[in-house]
Amino acid sequence: MNVQITCLDVLVKRVRAARAGREAVALAYLGNVVDVWERFAADAAATGENLIDLASDQTSLHNPYNGGFYPTGLTLAESNALMAADPAAFKAAVQASLRRQVTAINALVTRGSRFWDYGNSFLLEAFRAGADIALPAARAGDAVTETNVTFKYPSYVEEFMGDIFSMGFGPFRWVCTSGRAEDLAATDSIASEVLKGLLTCEGDGEVRGQLKDNILWIDAAQENHLVVGSQARILYADAAGRAAIAGAINAAVKSGRLHGPVVLSRDHHDVSGTDSPFRETSNVCDGSKFTADMAVQNCIGDAVRGATWVALHNGGGTGWGKAINGGFGLVLDGTDDAAAKARLMLFWDVNNGVARRAWAGNDKAERAIKRAAAAFEAGAEGALPIVPTLPVRSDAAGVEALIADSLALQFPESA
Ligand SMILES: NC(=O)c1ccc[n+]([C@@H]2O[C@H](COP(=O)([O-])OP(=O)(O)OC[C@H]3O[C@@H](n4cnc5c(N)ncnc54)[C@H](O)[C@@H]3O)[C@@H](O)[C@H]2O)c1
Repeated sequence: MNVQITCLDVLVKRVRAARAGREAVALAYLGNVVDVWERFAADAAATGENLIDLASDQTSLHNPYNGGFYPTGLTLAESNALMAADPAAFKAAVQASLRRQVTAINALVTRGSRFWDYGNSFLLEAFRAGADIALPAARAGDAVTETNVTFKYPSYVEEFMGDIFSMGFGPFRWVCTSGRAEDLAATDSIASEVLKGLLTCEGDGEVRGQLKDNILWIDAAQENHLVVGSQARILYADAAGRAAIAGAINAAVKSGRLHGPVVLSRDHHDVSGTDSPFRETSNVCDGSKFTADMAVQNCIGDAVRGATWVALHNGGGTGWGKAINGGFGLVLDGTDDAAAKARLMLFWDVNNGVARRAWAGNDKAERAIKRAAAAFEAGAEGALPIVPTLPVRSDAAGVEALIADSLALQFPESA
């Protein structure tokens, strides 16, 4: 943050000045975010000018009543004391704050702000708190519950990330076990070369866009000093990119260019690794986002295809009970066996989720899975066979006509 501010009046003034001067600046208010929302809503009501264009909430609401969210009106010390002495009263205070926060958000959205859930269970916890955050039930008279709710605002997956996952792109990772910075630099340039090679023969504009963005990222990784511990890197890539990078890194271990094995992994926040209706699968729109099948199939499929280890766990990102996560590690030790396992496993690890997203009706995923199938048909290097089950699309009028025809056949007398 460039500037720290402790007074709400100063904050509003500073924001107004920054907007007027088109100044790019990060301002940190040291206090409760509910007060910030209410102050900006009050300012917009008084002046008619809404100072908030884009907004989200980044408190730890995956863990709302044990310190993830601090209610307004209490100091940090008072909150911590209440949390321990009277958890029910603390919960009531958190929920009252969330209701107030949503009231202020709604007021600003009415005046043009754009709000989305950051992936911290804000919408769900606000709903549980009784805030005005849900749209009316699709069918008049139905109760709105946690399993049929449509929120007023999208999650960031619905709004931004989901399309990227549907294309098969997600946060692929590797760790150089030698611990040497020069090994990480070598893997960065290997990954960059691989992606540039893929770019030269890529015809799909959207895929080219993803490749270009990630080449930019990996080429700038060294100068941005992103390593804080292990010599590790994260890079968005699709199934073909991940497999090609893994193959090239394994070859570099074999040749001795790298000084030790490299471990592959990925974030659970990816194409196939997580079922979470409030985050990773929130953009799966056929009703199946409330199932927990994909992460389990992903984990088992990775295990039998050669992952060195797998993990199936609960609650990643959104909290216990709200997500199932599957993860893996795969050691590239330079052997032909490791290369074969990486090729098989990474293909499944990504395309399992792309296929599911396609089946649920996502256009980008359908295109991506057809591309994967076509790559094998065309004999592309490294491609594996896949016969995806594709959705059969119909329009509402077509379905209505079909039902009417069927009824007319069964009950001709009423036609
Ligand atoms: N979308 C993603 O990719 C993604 C990535 C990482 C984390 N997350 C989620 O985002 C949330 C935040 O992650 P984090 O790592 O920054 O957590 P964190 O716990 O380190 O930070 C949250 C901060 O919010 C503060 N806070 C709590 N209540 C507040 C209030 N009422 N007003 C002002 N500040 C308040 C806390 O004191 C804490 O400093 C988590 O729920 C996490 O699961 C999402």
